[in-house]
Amino acid sequence: MEAYIFEWLNLFFRWFHVIAGVAWIGASFYFVWLDLSLREPPQWKKDKGIKGDLWAIHGGGFYEVAKYQLGPEKMPQTLHWFKWEAYTTWLTGFTLLSVMYYWGADQYLIDPAKMALSQWQAIAISLVFLTGAFAIYETLIKSPLRAHNKSFAIILYALLVLAAWGLDQIFSDRAAYLHVGALIGSIMAGNVFFGIMPAQRELVRAVEAGEQPQAKFAELAKLRSTHNNYFTLPLIFIMISNHYPMTYGHEYGWLILAAIGFISAFARHFFNLKTQGIFKPWILVVALILMLGLAAVMAPRTPQLAQGETVITTPQALHITQLRCAECHSESPSSDMFTSAPAGIVLGNEVQLLQYKDRMLSALQTGYMPLANITAMTDSERTQLILWLQVQP
Ligand code: HEC
Repeated sequence: MEAYIFEWLNLFFRWFHVIAGVAWIGASFYFVWLDLSLREPPQWKKDKGIKGDLWAIHGGGFYEVAKYQLGPEKMPQTLHWFKWEAYTTWLTGFTLLSVMYYWGADQYLIDPAKMALSQWQAIAISLVFLTGAFAIYETLIKSPLRAHNKSFAIILYALLVLAAWGLDQIFSDRAAYLHVGALIGSIMAGNVFFGIMPAQRELVRAVEAGEQPQAKFAELAKLRSTHNNYFTLPLIFIMISNHYPMTYGHEYGWLILAAIGFISAFARHFFNLKTQGIFKPWILVVALILMLGLAAVMAPRTPQLAQGETVITTPQALHITQLRCAECHSESPSSDMFTSAPAGIVLGNEVQLLQYKDRMLSALQTGYMPLANITAMTDSERTQLILWLQVQP
């Protein structure tokens, strides 16, 4: 019953989290597009303090949008803020993290082969890491370093890579990735809460008081929002990375993450330059080449048969899966964390092994399966099973 409740909470919060995230990132993409598409307004609008306007058609109606240089003469009755998208994404994300990685720590957070932590130790390390790393970002962005864009970006990137490496030493591969994602998500939500919102409240206050808003608030909000912008693509990669064990399950998973993070933020740079009217398509070409290079470097090496060794027989292969996989991958798993075969994959007979041949190969070669090697599969069994799978039709 516990496993069943676990799965429903997991499903519900993941669903909610993705919906909120779509609303947040969607709104943010939309506003970037708006700013890019504003054109010089007619004189009568300029006289009202409007610096740009645009027309759009959507869902069977015309929309007229106008952006003010500073603010309207009089505050409108309703002003939409776009902050709950960010907060809801963070809240549902943190709940999902707690359900999956804290409640399900044995399955998802702890890897005894790396560090034999107790559930509470692992949770404590996770919380200390997230709050500590978040505090470092907040300190940096309030320090004079924020005036130096390039140095800031390099230091921030180096710290994130260091975090990915450190987490990889402590937690399971998947949890290491997820924690980098949770940190980036927290930084982004924090940027909204601690930077962008206060700046906007100050703007509203100044307009209401008929004062000239101070530029420094707007600048800091802009910097934080630029950081969020570069974070979006790497963050979304981490959100979907759990479908790709070849990334986090790789021997140097943290380096793969560093590479993908760099490439995707670099690709984002193309779109940001384009927003400013600078068109540099070579950036996208270089990003694509880097991605292909990464794929080539990551290609799994096939284990070779040693002198005089032969490929195991089918009953032997079935014996290994019975021993190391069946606890979870059977019609009714004996593992108390699963009520049905994970990913719908049952590995009980030859036909089933052949059916999932490619996915098994990938899961075995990356070391993703058995999950957290809970069933203590040996390297030799792994090699033998891979070699057996490879000679199957
Ligand atoms: C402790 C439970 C457990 C054990 C033992 C286990 N698995 Fe899994 N397996 C899972 C879970 C959970 C998933 C789904 C993971 C996810 O959602 O990414 C999974 C997914 C898979 C997948 C699908 C991966 C994909 O997305 O393509 C394959 C293939 C697989 N397992 C093979 C194996 C093999 C082979 C073994 C034995 C050597 C094994 N598993 C042992 C829990 C287990």
